[in-house]
Amino acid sequence: MATTYRAALIGCSRMGAFIDNEVRSSRSITLPYSHAAGYEACERTDLIAGADLRQDVLEQFGSRYNVSSDHWYTNYRDLIANEQPDILSIATQPEQRCEIILHAIEQGVRALYVEKPLCASVAEAEAIRDAVRANNVALNMGTNRRWHNGFEAMRAKIDSGDFGDLRTLTIFSTGSFFNTASHFFDLLLYLNSDVTPKWVQAYVFRFDELVVGTEVRDDPAGTGIMMFENEVLGYALDGSRRTEFEAVCGSGVITALNNGADIRTRTQAPDSSADGPNLDFDEASSTLNLVNDLVHALDTGEPVRGGADVAYWNTQIIFGFIESHRRGGARVELPLTNHDLRFVRHDHVARQPKYAPG
Ligand SMILES: NC(=O)c1ccc[n+]([C@@H]2O[C@H](COP(=O)([O-])OP(=O)(O)OC[C@H]3O[C@@H](n4cnc5c(N)ncnc54)[C@H](O)[C@@H]3O)[C@@H](O)[C@H]2O)c1
Repeated sequence: MATTYRAALIGCSRMGAFIDNEVRSSRSITLPYSHAAGYEACERTDLIAGADLRQDVLEQFGSRYNVSSDHWYTNYRDLIANEQPDILSIATQPEQRCEIILHAIEQGVRALYVEKPLCASVAEAEAIRDAVRANNVALNMGTNRRWHNGFEAMRAKIDSGDFGDLRTLTIFSTGSFFNTASHFFDLLLYLNSDVTPKWVQAYVFRFDELVVGTEVRDDPAGTGIMMFENEVLGYALDGSRRTEFEAVCGSGVITALNNGADIRTRTQAPDSSADGPNLDFDEASSTLNLVNDLVHALDTGEPVRGGADVAYWNTQIIFGFIESHRRGGARVELPLTNHDLRFVRHDHVARQPKYAPG
């Protein structure tokens, strides 16, 4: 009989446990979407425990997911020591994530589902990547589009070579780097076969207000470009086309509209272009796909679709964009090393989860 893996959650708020109540009307999202709802839906996992600093959040989590109070924790270290989970979710804010990830790995946790953005500095991303590699941990960061069947179909179309070689990738609304663009940078990495980015160049709105000394005091938005090792160019535009993405290949264009709910194709000839068919895919929960990917890695020892390396490069792009502005808009070679900037929001207050639909 297949093993049932014991899953636990640190950070039981919106993405941890209750966001399904906010996103159920979205066309591009198939539920379950929160970590806890993903474990509940997965036939191979049992959600056994939760940790949060807020007692009311723990109580609501326990009641919604049928986790009894002897498995609620306010100290995440106690959860890891007492419960020894096979899979650990970390859905706190990025400022707390690195410490928790490194402690979990040190305590022998073998699979991690960690939210985006990975962490709060380049040094933290390096430490996480190194610990994951050294301990052979399966880590997926919650950039859900990587496990979304529509974007998987988009990647398959690029990889098929039907339209020739991939040339450019465009994000049409970059948004704030840590919270929003971390999703989109991961999508560009994924669509380009996780080829390493080699340099970035960017402009950051309200830079002087948000970056004080070595502290990035709130989530900056901006626009920029990134060049990958295979000479594919990524454009992170900050226009108003919202969550739309485009891949331009030698003889065709693939455009994801409505956050990946519709994937259109168009052929490009020198003097004309013609609409092709939309790409077909089955709607499925990206969170459940991500959890199943971790289960598969635990079953087989095979690599996950995500991994710490792509999460590390994601962090490099975020800080590379900020560094580019700091250097007056210069082109910045990646990886950044000995980088001193750190994401520190002094006034950040956790959001109130929506406990019921409607
Ligand atoms: N994948 C997605 O689509 C998606 C959507 C929403 C949010 N997110 C990400 O998920 C993360 C969480 O977002 P949220 O909106 O749920 O945040 P939130 O601020 O509402 O919740 C974070 C929770 O973590 C708890 N916490 C903080 N430090 C802790 C610690 N040391 N031990 C235990 N609990 C601790 C807080 O009490 C809080 O309840 C963020 O990184 C966010 O960017 C991802």
